[in-house]
Amino acid sequence: MFKIIHVSDTHIEPVGRFVVGLNPHERLGQVVQAINESHADAALCVITGDLTDRGDEGSYRAFADIVNELKVPCRLLLGNHDNREIFRRVFPDAPFDASGFIQSTADFGDTRLIFLDSLHDNHAGLGQLCNARLEWLERVSQEAAATGRRSVIFIHHPPFSVGVRMFDQMLLENPAPFLNQITASKPLHLAFGHLHLTTSGSWNGIPYSCNRGVAHRIALSLDGDVTEFIEAEPTFDVMLISPNGVLVHHTAPTTATSVIAREYPTEDGKGHQVMLRTDIAGV
Ligand SMILES: [Fe+2]
Ligand SMILES: [Fe+2]
Repeated sequence: MFKIIHVSDTHIEPVGRFVVGLNPHERLGQVVQAINESHADAALCVITGDLTDRGDEGSYRAFADIVNELKVPCRLLLGNHDNREIFRRVFPDAPFDASGFIQSTADFGDTRLIFLDSLHDNHAGLGQLCNARLEWLERVSQEAAATGRRSVIFIHHPPFSVGVRMFDQMLLENPAPFLNQITASKPLHLAFGHLHLTTSGSWNGIPYSCNRGVAHRIALSLDGDVTEFIEAEPTFDVMLISPNGVLVHHTAPTTATSVIAREYPTEDGKGHQVMLRTDIAGV
């Protein structure tokens, strides 16, 4: 079994600038610290896009300063808020495919992780997988199958509706070729971001999970037209990948005051609870 950390939607701005009133540097710093303290044994940390809020060089440099503190290796994907050219300038060592897209793979035992670049060339919200990117995916998926490996796919944009109307205009554009491919190749799991919602389920038998992200949460509204941005803790997902499948824990950094009590095991099974916060009444 191996552990993958899934982070998404960090929306970093140049130092000193906030996003919808929230400090993205502080929030990403909290996530990096939590990963280093509790999950330094992870095989990889995957950040599925919207690394920056506006795709400028200052934001990528601020982002790099924070993620360089990670004790686990990191793989970066692009989202609709990113800029491929500037990303490659700031991260010259980031792997890319023969067409220059930020697409790569990583093999761990009998599992191949596949990282896709769904940044659209001409639209601020939609995702895109052009023929070159799809052909690359088909090739690396076939390689995986030929070597007996199961695939886990990471991408910024969901390729299907998750039942939230406001996002139906910002999904992967023309998803049919991609959906046909994964219907045939049957990846073990599909992981994405973009929604700023904690969402999971299955699509035609393919399990998926969405990391809500580090930046603002979006209020769940299935048929609303107005997007509400919510102040909520930054999050990350801990994925445990084993021969049995993929297990996804949605979690968040704990702060000095967020632990309100501890319960210690006792032989009678009742446990012994100790309150840590004196400003909250115990049970
Ligand atoms: Fe985002
Ligand atoms: Fe996005």
